Amino acid sequence: MAGGKKTYRPRRPNQGSGKQMSGSKPDGAKRGRQSQPDDGKNATRMMTKKVKTARGRKLSSKLWIERQINDPYVREAQIKGYRSRAAFKLEELDDKFGLLKKGALVVDLGCAPGGWVQIALKRGASRVVGIDLLPVETMAGAEMIEMDFMDEKAPQRLKDMLGGSADVVLSDLAANTIGHRRTDHLKTVSLVEAAADFAMDVLKPGGSFATKVFQGGAEKTLLTKLKQNFKTVKHAKPKSSRAGSPEIYLVATGFKNQRSEF
Ligand SMILES: C[S@@+](CC[C@H](N)C(=O)[O-])C[C@H]1O[C@@H](n2cnc3c(N)ncnc32)[C@H](O)[C@@H]1O
Repeated sequence: MAGGKKTYRPRRPNQGSGKQMSGSKPDGAKRGRQSQPDDGKNATRMMTKKVKTARGRKLSSKLWIERQINDPYVREAQIKGYRSRAAFKLEELDDKFGLLKKGALVVDLGCAPGGWVQIALKRGASRVVGIDLLPVETMAGAEMIEMDFMDEKAPQRLKDMLGGSADVVLSDLAANTIGHRRTDHLKTVSLVEAAADFAMDVLKPGGSFATKVFQGGAEKTLLTKLKQNFKTVKHAKPKSSRAGSPEIYLVATGFKNQRSEF
């Protein structure tokens, strides 16, 4: 298993206590000065809160805090008790593609802090099996392990937890980037490919696979493989996915085969 006994903490600059979910404000945000509305004519400007650059706080940290404070999805996630703003992305994908059926057995790859798990259960999944490098607070109806999905033992661990074929495999896996474009790209591609291979190993006929991909979408070879194995394969960019983010999602429905014996 990866990691020790640390509590989930989104990897962002200058955060506060480990109890925060990714949608919550870091401690620095609470100390920040907020600008006052100017003349009441510009509603958008009135709503935008600024954070003072404190000594020792990097600009990237200040900008991240400002973005969190001003993000309506972050606020909405807090109101609804969702563990992450990412929860809204799965809601949108499900609204569009009808992924989550009542009684579904769902796998969630990269499940921390658990926003997608909440949505899957809320929308009728009977059970969710998840994996993440980080520990995730427990949730009734979900079984989640703290493990590297790229560990060669991970697929079998997940299959043992599943105990049968899955209806849906979700992957919101996002590699820790190091800032070296080529390396980061390769890391992301290998995560997506591993997620797709796993999905095609454990899905029931008719099952669905949804995964985060980056930049121009899925690699051509992966896309070809998915098109051979699923009835439909589409890219989607949920509204709740930040416009400036290179992430988009790939949704494959109607799995044609069944590979694994359980
Ligand atoms: C965007 S977050 C997922 C958010 C989640 N969908 C939610 O709604 O709460 C991506 C997650 O992928 C996890 N991750 C990245 N690489 C991983 C790996 N090799 N194995 C397991 N988890 C990984 C990260 O630890 C992180 O928690």
